[in-house]
Amino acid sequence: APVPPPNLNSCGTATITDGPAVPYSCCPPKPDDMDSVPYYKIPRMSKLRKRPAAQNVTEEYIAKYQLATSKMKELDKDQLDPLGFKQQANIHCAYCNDAYTMGDKKLQVHESWLFFPFHRWYLYFYERILGSLIDDPTFALPYWNWDNPSGMRLPYMFDVEGSSLYDARRNPHVRNGTIIDLGFFGDEVKTNELQMITNNLILMYRQMITNAPCPLLFFGEPYRFGSNPEPGMGTIENIPHNPVHIWTGTVRGTDLGNGAKSYGEDMGNFYSTALDPVFFCHHANVDRLWNEWKALGGKRRDLRDKDWLNSEFFFYDENRDPWRVKVRDCLDSKKMGYDYEPTATPWRNFKP
Ligand code: C2O
Repeated sequence: APVPPPNLNSCGTATITDGPAVPYSCCPPKPDDMDSVPYYKIPRMSKLRKRPAAQNVTEEYIAKYQLATSKMKELDKDQLDPLGFKQQANIHCAYCNDAYTMGDKKLQVHESWLFFPFHRWYLYFYERILGSLIDDPTFALPYWNWDNPSGMRLPYMFDVEGSSLYDARRNPHVRNGTIIDLGFFGDEVKTNELQMITNNLILMYRQMITNAPCPLLFFGEPYRFGSNPEPGMGTIENIPHNPVHIWTGTVRGTDLGNGAKSYGEDMGNFYSTALDPVFFCHHANVDRLWNEWKALGGKRRDLRDKDWLNSEFFFYDENRDPWRVKVRDCLDSKKMGYDYEPTATPWRNFKP
């Protein structure tokens, strides 16, 4: 059977990955009647939202995105506003840090075939909320184009202190245009930029092409009602998705400045990752790679298993209305109203 939407009535304490309990509740506000939350219908749109590569955007775009994010942060004044920045980050905490149960097990959307669809729906609503806060129904999230040499560094807009897109809880090595290591699991590799870029492209080829010739290898292992959590990751979730998180977050064990020891905050831990605005930029690229992978052809297509297609999540939309959404309704990003501005995919030619 498919994974049902989480039951908000039994939402409980979340746990910091590899750490103690999250010191606050990351459960969302409850709708009046959980059992009558309706199914979401994709609203009609007159124009596609075009998600741009973060390295190519204009100053005007950055100003808009920054403004939308500050407005979202202002909504945090009401702790129960589901559109607030912290509540939006808590969505990730609740779905990934054991706040929800599925039967007698913990619900976890990572390390399974729910990884891609969960994050697609999450970004979908987040983007609509940002757009509505600045009255721009065409607003589209930028994507961190780390699979392309021109995007292999923290996008500049996130590295400006004082901006709503800045986060002090990052590893200082991400600053000032350092080339990212897409295979980063904690050890700094000493090499030159050109070699790092080449390594990254080879790694992309491996994860998109060599190691993911068929759906289950790309999406991850089956996860159904009653399954144990974390049955197994798909290629991209494992690398480079995880390394980008780890590379960006603080080093575990360092002092966070308030006496507390780091568990990788913000980007390097599930409960805190979406407190860094770059999370959504990172995941826009992960989401784009889903489209790119299908475009490679062959057996590279969506899963057809009904338990995957009928699995469900719960989200609030930009009008604060609660909805159930199904995996089957998120397979085609254009039908959902958005697409990606194209960029080159040089990894296609980086056969090792
Ligand atoms: Cu839900 Cu990149 O993690």
